[in-house]
Amino acid sequence: MNNLVTEWVKVTGDISIVARESGDVWFHKSAGIQDEKAEPFATPMMGLGAPGSTVLLLDGAINLGFASIEKQLARPDLTLAAYIVALVGAYHTSVNTPRNLLRASARFEKLGRPEVAAYLEERAREETGHDRLAIKDLRALGVPGEKLVANYIPEGIKPLCQRFDDLCAEAYPIGCIGYSYCLERIAALKEKSDVEKVQAMCPNGVDATRFLRSHSALGSEANHVADTIDFVASLPANDRITVVQDTYESALIMAHGYNQELLKSEAELIEEIQQALGETLPYQQGSWSLQNKEHGARPAA
Ligand SMILES: [Fe+2]
Ligand SMILES: [Fe+2]
Repeated sequence: MNNLVTEWVKVTGDISIVARESGDVWFHKSAGIQDEKAEPFATPMMGLGAPGSTVLLLDGAINLGFASIEKQLARPDLTLAAYIVALVGAYHTSVNTPRNLLRASARFEKLGRPEVAAYLEERAREETGHDRLAIKDLRALGVPGEKLVANYIPEGIKPLCQRFDDLCAEAYPIGCIGYSYCLERIAALKEKSDVEKVQAMCPNGVDATRFLRSHSALGSEANHVADTIDFVASLPANDRITVVQDTYESALIMAHGYNQELLKSEAELIEEIQQALGETLPYQQGSWSLQNKEHGARPAA
């Protein structure tokens, strides 16, 4: 019992996440005392990590980030317009991922950290082509995907993309692992029933859930998450601290950005999409138009 690992990371001015390998996790609020004995988590952790405690730090960081919007959390009914916007967001958060990760990987190679470089390179390989899944889904819905993504980045998604670009371009880009963990962990929470809900909303015979399936518990995300937990747990303490802090920062940005999009009405979303396309969607508010249903949406290539 005494050998169980305890890890902690200060994520805000006065809140640290503390996690034990035994499964205990809590948020420790600093009393602002300088005395180390009275403030056991005031000094940064220096010991080894363990998957059982590292995962609690990472998930604690996401929970804390999302707690910041808990009271204004939007929970609208799913609509096709919102799903189309989500696919556009999925495209933008995927399209630069391999390039960004390879950039960070090259940096770690230069820094003499081949194990981090190899991990990031592998992740870049795994993420390659995911932007195309979103485009295919849009096309399956009868939406010209390339044109839409070229003209439209949902407002709430912009800061998230910017954050990842910035993290990967840092001189010591370890924080990009925290960002990726945040996105993948949240994606992996989606279950079969979530995919089925979207399928039920799509016109008959249309497969527009390629991206969703692969970024859910049904796809590879759960494995990516498990691999990342093991990898982060193997890192030195100062790296784990940065990764957890950037998981928290990413969760904050994600929570506010997603909420900003979720708060928009269906009519607003349709207007944004049509503005970007310069044409009317084959879909009207509330349901697919009869014409589209009869002819069917263009199947994805
Ligand atoms: Fe992906
Ligand atoms: Fe992934």
